[in-house]
Amino acid sequence: MRIRKAVITAAGWGTRFLPVTKSQPKEMLPLVNKPLIQYSVEEAIACGVELIVIVTSLGKRAIEDYFDRSFELEQVLMQKGETELAEKIRRLSNMVDITYVRQKEQLGLGHAVLSTRKIIGDEPFILLLPDDLFEQGEMVLKNMVNICEQYEGSVIAVKQVTEREISRYGIVDPRKKADRVYQVLDMVEKPRPEDAPSDLAVMGRYVLMPDIFQILTETLPGRGGEIQLTDGLKQLARKNAVYAYEFEGERYDAGTPFGWLQTTMALALRDPCLGPELRRYLDKLLPTTTYQ
Ligand code: G1P
Repeated sequence: MRIRKAVITAAGWGTRFLPVTKSQPKEMLPLVNKPLIQYSVEEAIACGVELIVIVTSLGKRAIEDYFDRSFELEQVLMQKGETELAEKIRRLSNMVDITYVRQKEQLGLGHAVLSTRKIIGDEPFILLLPDDLFEQGEMVLKNMVNICEQYEGSVIAVKQVTEREISRYGIVDPRKKADRVYQVLDMVEKPRPEDAPSDLAVMGRYVLMPDIFQILTETLPGRGGEIQLTDGLKQLARKNAVYAYEFEGERYDAGTPFGWLQTTMALALRDPCLGPELRRYLDKLLPTTTYQ
């Protein structure tokens, strides 16, 4: 099955990152040398997507500027003889077609997804929440697309979490179908651990059938007074089958200051240019650091 379109949601306030997100989108925070959102864009491209729809809101112009062409900057770099860098900057604007939808009111993830309905139309699509980064990003999505094709249903990425983490995620009630594949019988958004149907939590990658749109138009505000995608998927699971894929490899949450630090460290340590130097620096720094 060919999936041509992906949605990336980038409309949130970034409250967990204030004050830095007061005048800068959270999705533009750097992870090593690229903004957070670029990892999702590259992941979608690696899965063969032709069009990316980014859901934005007030104050997110920097995202559009980043993926736009900057003739002035390219010219300045060329004049300085920095041809390689100029080419790198130009490539950013040629990576893929990107279109933007403004979510005028932040009424929840389900509402953000619904705002892309006219652009996505009647075809399956990939949804990426850019705060979530996967060690084996492209592989996870490719496996999910295969499961979607094989079982003819929407697929969500899930991972086992600890009891303490349960109330931060959407949690599924799973019925095992195959190795790492479950049918979703029910879903709950951010339940208390004692109310959770399992410890399998939804992580930010989805392959969705377009029937989700009609359901989202009828989904009432749920947890936190927001229109939750989880509530929409729960309805979808009752009508058509929804599947969960328990992916392998690490997943990082770059949407909180500590998670962002963890992600930055993990990416930098894996980088062949930065990794060895950072490791030496940390070895030197750690024994001498005290808390203030
Ligand atoms: C969203 C979803 C939640 C999911 C999580 C993954 O929550 O609503 O079901 O488990 O992303 O990161 P958020 O983190 O936006 O509150």
